[in-house]
Formats: sequence, C-alpha cells, structure tokens
Amino acid sequence: MSTLSRRAFIGGNWKMHGSLGDSLLLLQQLFDGRKGKEGAEIGIFPPFVYLQHVRSLLNTAQNNQIKGFVLGAQNVNEHSKGAYTGEISAEMLDDVGCEYALIGHSERRNLYGETNEQIAKKCLSALQNKVKPVLCIGETLEQKNAGKTIEILLEQLNSVICVVGLNALRHCVLAYEPVWAIGTGLAASPMVAQEIHAKLRAYLSEQNVEISEELRIIYGGSVKADNAQDFSAMPDIDGALVGGASLKAEEFLNICHYWG
Ligand code: PGA
Repeated sequence: MSTLSRRAFIGGNWKMHGSLGDSLLLLQQLFDGRKGKEGAEIGIFPPFVYLQHVRSLLNTAQNNQIKGFVLGAQNVNEHSKGAYTGEISAEMLDDVGCEYALIGHSERRNLYGETNEQIAKKCLSALQNKVKPVLCIGETLEQKNAGKTIEILLEQLNSVICVVGLNALRHCVLAYEPVWAIGTGLAASPMVAQEIHAKLRAYLSEQNVEISEELRIIYGGSVKADNAQDFSAMPDIDGALVGGASLKAEEFLNICHYWG
C-alpha cells in the first residue's frame, strides 16, 4: 500500500454466484472477521437482486461498529430511464443505497459487447447520481504480446475522461485488470502491475498532480490470499478487485488484512 494517504479499496465481485442464503452467511463471516478493523474500504458487489438484502445487513453492521464496508453494483445502465427491459439505472442504484458500481469490467466488454463510448456514458450517469464508478481497464493477451498494454489502457481511460472530465476521477476508483489474468489463476506479477500502475499515475500527473496522487488504482485478476501480500507491498497498488477468492470468507479476509 502506498505511503501516501490513499485509503485502500478491496472489492469483492461476487459475479453471478451464490444463493441469497450463501451470500448473507458469507457477509456475516466477513463482519465477524473485520470487527474492530477499519483500515481498508471493503466494497461488496453482489448480484443486483441481493443488493437490498446486503444493504440492510451493512446498515446493521454499521450500527454495531463494524466499519469500512460499502455497497456496489456489478453494472449500471447508461440511460437515466426508459424502455430498457432488464436494465438498472444509476438513480435506482442510489435509491437502494449503492455507493459504487463496477463499470467496464472485461466480462461486460467481451461477453456483452460494451464499448468505450458506452462505458464512458455509464460513468457519467453513475456520477450524476452519486454512484462512484470503479472503472475497469485492461488489455487482452494479444494486446499485451503486441506491446500495446499502455496504449490500450490509455485509450480506455481517456475515452471516459473525455466525457466525464478529469476532475470526476476524484470520485472514481480505477481498476487495472489484465483480461488474461481474470479467472485464470495467472495473476500479473506484482512488479509488472506496479510498473503499469505507476505509468498510469504518471500520465495523470501530467494533467493534474493532485488528482493523480489521490486516485486509488487497484489491481484485479487472480488475486488470492497467497499473492495479495506482494501486491499490497507495491506503492502504487492501492487495493484489489477480487472475483473467485472473494467468495470464500477466510481467503477474502486474508486478502483484506494485507491492506489494513
Ligand atoms: P478473479 O476475478 O479474481 O476471479 O480473477 C477478478 C475480477 O473479475 O474482477
């Protein structure tokens, strides 16, 4: 974790896993494990249909002095309302107490054809409704092998900045998630991830030093209890976005532990 004052952010992206019962049990175990700790901010990203259940447990936990948990959605629609069957707006997320939303996750980009343009609009809509984007960017293996990582990341990042403005990054978390590392067990090496995070920060600092220093840049892609410590030791890696390993209480708690 950084020596600067950035508070770590660890996101548990549950994807389309678990029943309501499983989810509430997992949450209770997380609360038990985090009692008395409030270093890192821990984002819980359950499936849409469980958001309200999780919200109400988070409220109870907060009243019982369990701090640091925040609620996020796994997706948001770019439109404010209308005939978009099956979709959820940012206003609706805010309405049920969602503070964050994952936007641009590679599964959304690749499986559902989300474009940079659409992702930028989602970020704008979220921000207009007090929902903070966790903007995910990442290169494919092919792009990595062609030496295009930074070019792709900046293209993805700039397409959002063009629409929401640089200042809006004060309300975002940026997640670097190499596509080839997600769900594969092949995490990026912490040193390589650090190098990329540092390049992203340096790029932003050319435009605004304060924003670049404040922005939390987290790493995602096969983060587990046994590699989290190495990621957490890197100065520009301010947390993690965790998929598979966030479904096991003990493992996720161990990951969180390294960031405080
Ligand atoms: P993973 O997923 O930890 O299972 O690789 C990360 C993500 O999808 O954000």
